[in-house]
Amino acid sequence: MDVKIRLINLKNEALQEVNQASNTKHLEDLRIKYLGRKSQLTDLINHIKELPEDIRPQVGKEANKLKNEIEALIKEKILTLPSKEEKLPKLDITLPPFPFTIGKSHPISQVLAEIINILQNLGFHIALGPEIELSYHNFDALNIPPDHPARDMHDTFYINNETILRTHTSPVQIRVMKKQTPPIRIIVPGKVYRKDADISHSPMFHQVEGLYVDTKVTFSDLKGILTILVRQIFGKETGLRFRPSFFPFTEPSAEIDISCQVCKGKGCRVCSYTGWLEILGAGMVDPEVFKMVDYSIHQYSGFAFGLGVERVAMLKYKIDDIRLLFENDLRFLSQF
Ligand code: FA5
Repeated sequence: MDVKIRLINLKNEALQEVNQASNTKHLEDLRIKYLGRKSQLTDLINHIKELPEDIRPQVGKEANKLKNEIEALIKEKILTLPSKEEKLPKLDITLPPFPFTIGKSHPISQVLAEIINILQNLGFHIALGPEIELSYHNFDALNIPPDHPARDMHDTFYINNETILRTHTSPVQIRVMKKQTPPIRIIVPGKVYRKDADISHSPMFHQVEGLYVDTKVTFSDLKGILTILVRQIFGKETGLRFRPSFFPFTEPSAEIDISCQVCKGKGCRVCSYTGWLEILGAGMVDPEVFKMVDYSIHQYSGFAFGLGVERVAMLKYKIDDIRLLFENDLRFLSQF
């Protein structure tokens, strides 16, 4: 086809299509179609050299003119199309705002922070240990030999013969005493694991261990510290009782109950209708444990305790099922 006719056809086609474009996207497609690198016009301009010499200047001029015309037309057309902003719905400032929610810490984290704060103010320092622990630290070094019945009570998750998920925070006592000499005054917050699940037992829960070893530590010190701790968390009126108990790593041992905050001591399903709920185990460090870490049993004495953080949270906030703490239901969590 004659080049000049091609140019005229191209011009008519382009003018018609650009005029009919109804939105900016369509217009952009047309710009690419008529002026882009692969367009007929660009192709023609690129091959002008191959045309007979006599028509070359004329065709070159016409092609450039057409290019400028199409560009100008597109620019003009764009001004007549509605802009993107105009298509957006208008802002209605009378509409109510979207709900604005602020995250907060989980009730367990809140209680944990409170317990740690009270004990730090009493002079305890934080120590940490691994959740995957040697059964030696978790049991043997705490005077619980392999066939001791106390091992059954702990319902252990085994990883292999020597390695377990720690069942309590007490193995950190051993790790710290092996590394340091007294005086030792530590607390160990952390997760522990047991094959155990009902309304007051969870397979993963938190404990805070306490250990105080020095030359003249007595059971009165233990009673004093724990009484301050419980009174600061639950208030002065809360009933507190030390009940004789047994732990292979403490002698004498006690379990500490507080009056059930859910039923105010009357008896409910949380306290198994006894009016009391056990929140921690404690006692004077057994001389056998001191021997395991090469401490002189004549020179040193100490107390230790292990507190169940979920139990404290349940009593403080009157939660009647421990599982609520782990379901992550925002309707529950947003109340704290
Ligand atoms: C111990 O774990 C001892 N290591 C505590 C201790 C430390 C005694 C130092 C003496 C010296 P016990 O198994 O009783 O003891 O657990 C301690 C506390 O953890 C309990 O009082 C209870 O509050 C909490 N607890 C125990 N099992 C669970 C569970 N499955 N879910 C939630 N809390 C639990």
